[in-house]
Amino acid sequence: MNAISSRILEQNAAVRRVLPKYRSSRWTIADALKVRTDDPTTTMPVIDYNFPAMSNDVMIWDSGTLRDMHMRTVTYKGWFVLWSLAVDKIDKTNAKIYDEWHSRNDRAYIGYWYSADGVEWTWGGRLFQTSADLRPWEWSGSLVMREGTENTVDMFYTSVGAPDGNSVPAVCSGTIHADEKGVWFEGFSASTEMFKADGVHYANASEDAYFDFRDPQPFINPGDGELYTLFEGNVPGMRGQFVVGSDEMGHVPPGYVVDAGAKYGAAAIGIARCVSNWRKGNYSRWELMPALVTALGVNDQTERPHFVFKDGLTYLFTISHHSTYTGKSTGPDGVYGFVSEKGIFGPYKPLNSSGLVLGNPSSQPYSTYSHFVDAQGYVQSFIDTIPAAGQDAESPETYRIGGTLAPTVRLVLDGDRTFLTEVHDYAQVFAQAAWPASLAYDVRT
Ligand code: FRU
Repeated sequence: MNAISSRILEQNAAVRRVLPKYRSSRWTIADALKVRTDDPTTTMPVIDYNFPAMSNDVMIWDSGTLRDMHMRTVTYKGWFVLWSLAVDKIDKTNAKIYDEWHSRNDRAYIGYWYSADGVEWTWGGRLFQTSADLRPWEWSGSLVMREGTENTVDMFYTSVGAPDGNSVPAVCSGTIHADEKGVWFEGFSASTEMFKADGVHYANASEDAYFDFRDPQPFINPGDGELYTLFEGNVPGMRGQFVVGSDEMGHVPPGYVVDAGAKYGAAAIGIARCVSNWRKGNYSRWELMPALVTALGVNDQTERPHFVFKDGLTYLFTISHHSTYTGKSTGPDGVYGFVSEKGIFGPYKPLNSSGLVLGNPSSQPYSTYSHFVDAQGYVQSFIDTIPAAGQDAESPETYRIGGTLAPTVRLVLDGDRTFLTEVHDYAQVFAQAAWPASLAYDVRT
């Protein structure tokens, strides 16, 4: 290499190291005041108490389709593929399932399904070899075909269960294989940690005993061709010591008084940029950047954030709970969202004015969770609990536990508004591209 070309390479590297500058956008108390439960355009369909279960042997919850780095759902050799957080059913009697379901996070592992038609699914079992486990449990993430390869797959996930309470985004890689009978994976024998909560950009365990730091969702930014990841985080700072001021309140009505409990809501939608050679499959070094959206004073959890890129707009979706709203703010369990006209760094405004995109109906407040909106607007979620008709939704005596996927629904994304328009089969997946037809790099240099 001559001197001139090595200098150009150095300059390019320097340009890449300069991180974009932006301010975090806010989900304000005034936005959340606009949340309306049971609006038909932003409410999940009522789910039949007699819903079908995908398996008698495992219970599953957070799930995702095999996708590419541009957020498109892909098939592999004609097969549809899904990953799921799973636990094996130990005892199939109803009473026991209650304990098994509600303690599932402490036994979670990642498994996978495959299907010829995107409707009938076969359970493929565990994805990782036990040597890949850095900590006892595997939590949410994403299963992504590696750009420029025939069949290399990266599972970005959350490694959890350390005695110190830390959860760490990590990646484990392998290969996907298929024949006319089904799909299987090889490799997945070692994990690499991506980054940790630093207490500066995002809260860590010493600031907030309830801090969240998980659910990596990497993507190539259409704006600069670089690899970033979204994740769930919290605003840095000591829990309970935040001041909820006018920026966090937004345009509240006259006389609005912030409740003392509001300051316990400190959710943040996190982002980091990969600064190791990811084009060669090295995901070991990332730089944490300021949150894209914070919910200080409103809600303590914005989980599983992910993007849809459509019509030149950037849609940022995240899931949240009724129980994690703080102060006087309230809303249903479901998927919330924000939109930016200027690319991934915002500024963002809440979809539908309030942020609510799809909430559970008040007759079934815990029917579904962990919604994932794909690039075509199809939304998957899992069934949590469904009460018998007219019965108490909170009582295990009268609800049926899910542990399986809900009906897939479809959203129309129309500028800064969203509409529920279609209800499909339970667990139905629609693909957008066939791998490896789409394996070409789509990277601007
Ligand atoms: C969302 C979630 C994720 C986490 C997983 C654990 O449903 O809380 O944030 O990774 O579930 O089960």
